[in-house]
Amino acid sequence: MDQTTAIIDLDVPGPRISRHVYGHFAEHLGRCIYDGFYVGEDSEIPNERGIRLDVVEALRALNIPNLRWPGGCFADDYHWRDGIGPRDQRPRMVNSHWGDVVEDNSFGTHEFMDLCEMLGTDAYISGNVGSGSVAEMSEWIEYLTRADDSPMAALRRQNGRDEPWKVPYFGIGNEAWGCGGHLRVEQFASLARQYSTYVRNHAGNDVYRIAAGASDGDLHWTETLMKSFDDLDAGDGPARPFQGISLHYYTVTGSWQDKGSATEFGEDEWYLTLERARFMEHLLTRHGQVMDRHDPKKRVGLVVDEWGTWWNAEPGTNPGFLYQQNTLRDALVASVHFDAFHRHADRVVMANIAQTVNVLQAMLLTDPESGALVRTPSYHVFEMNTAHHDADSLDVHLQGVPTRPGSTAELPLVSASASTRGDTALVSLTNLDASADRTVVLDLRGREVTGHAARVLSAPELATHNTPDAPDAVAPVALDAVRPHERGLEVTLPAHSYVTVSLTLT
Ligand code: AHR
Repeated sequence: MDQTTAIIDLDVPGPRISRHVYGHFAEHLGRCIYDGFYVGEDSEIPNERGIRLDVVEALRALNIPNLRWPGGCFADDYHWRDGIGPRDQRPRMVNSHWGDVVEDNSFGTHEFMDLCEMLGTDAYISGNVGSGSVAEMSEWIEYLTRADDSPMAALRRQNGRDEPWKVPYFGIGNEAWGCGGHLRVEQFASLARQYSTYVRNHAGNDVYRIAAGASDGDLHWTETLMKSFDDLDAGDGPARPFQGISLHYYTVTGSWQDKGSATEFGEDEWYLTLERARFMEHLLTRHGQVMDRHDPKKRVGLVVDEWGTWWNAEPGTNPGFLYQQNTLRDALVASVHFDAFHRHADRVVMANIAQTVNVLQAMLLTDPESGALVRTPSYHVFEMNTAHHDADSLDVHLQGVPTRPGSTAELPLVSASASTRGDTALVSLTNLDASADRTVVLDLRGREVTGHAARVLSAPELATHNTPDAPDAVAPVALDAVRPHERGLEVTLPAHSYVTVSLTLT
């Protein structure tokens, strides 16, 4: 068998990897907000103003860069004025997308911004185009960010917040092709121009506006949005009304009716899942090519503001709540996505895993009975990758990677990416092979490597996951299978594992 080699020119940094590709997403869906982030002030679970302190502590350890809220599909049903003022006077509404439950609006704008401050993260507010108005959106950004005595700033003060908040990111609708109104792209492109115009910069708050983008391989959607401001880009014309375009892609292996179990699967489903995860790379390339045609200077950002695995809801839970377990397989789906985001750092400015707590590919699961908090295998990939945040990407040339036949193409069994910052570098290596270890030679060129340390995330079984009784069944440990090699280092990746190698450089 060929030797697998990763050639890395440590002295040729590429585009910077935005820390925002490690972004998160919290929707009013199932137990994400209520019972996840927010338990209310009267809960026995330790909290500050109703926000769970253990959740905050766990997420602070990930340096989460941004949090998207309130949806998702919920965003296009959400009217922000329902979520301000005294809680016992807030109107109720039906959360028709997610379980058809009654939402009491006890978690609203002030609670979300409070959460962002506790997390030390940037707010990414998702605005309502589907059932909202231009005025409503315009007033929300004024309420959040205006400093003087404007009507909305005065209303905010009346509700207890004097200082304006910073809101760096604002979404213009969500999945406008589906739950966000079933619009045609031509129709949405006009609305996106109009709504974005009224999301104004107040009091030095510079908003990055993100228009609801395509699903999966819908290149026509991206093309139409890119074309929609060609005229505004010309000469001294007004600035583009929105700065980013989103893309949603979920890793699904079954049909939408039967997506398969999160924990009960065999090797064939393992490989199919990873093949579907690697499809993200293809999507970034194709959507990026379309964007390049209209924007060769790459001024418009691609924002993958929903990605991750989507399995059948755990048996015994409300199917509308999208609560699923998270195994080693999910962790490798995450590591493969990050390799793709790193490789496309010139265009991908942000990404948001769906979702942070108790929904889809979550970082954290909370036990409804005991309240126990569990860090998932996916959480650990985010933690292992924090050194990639805002580091300069490095090309990794892989040679001699074994493959396995996939459903549409050969599936490479090793994935890798790398970045550097100052006198350090981080190399990410994923061994997709369900049963065989793989030794990889790191051919490190251009700078002298004076130190190294490696960590590995793996488990005895492909479906191993963490529970309140076994919270560390999948957790990173030091890896000592790293040896000096004439070309740099030699690393043995255990079967089905994710490995990071930190390098000290001179
Ligand atoms: O993340 C769950 C849902 O998936 C979101 O609400 C929606 O945007 C997408 O279809």
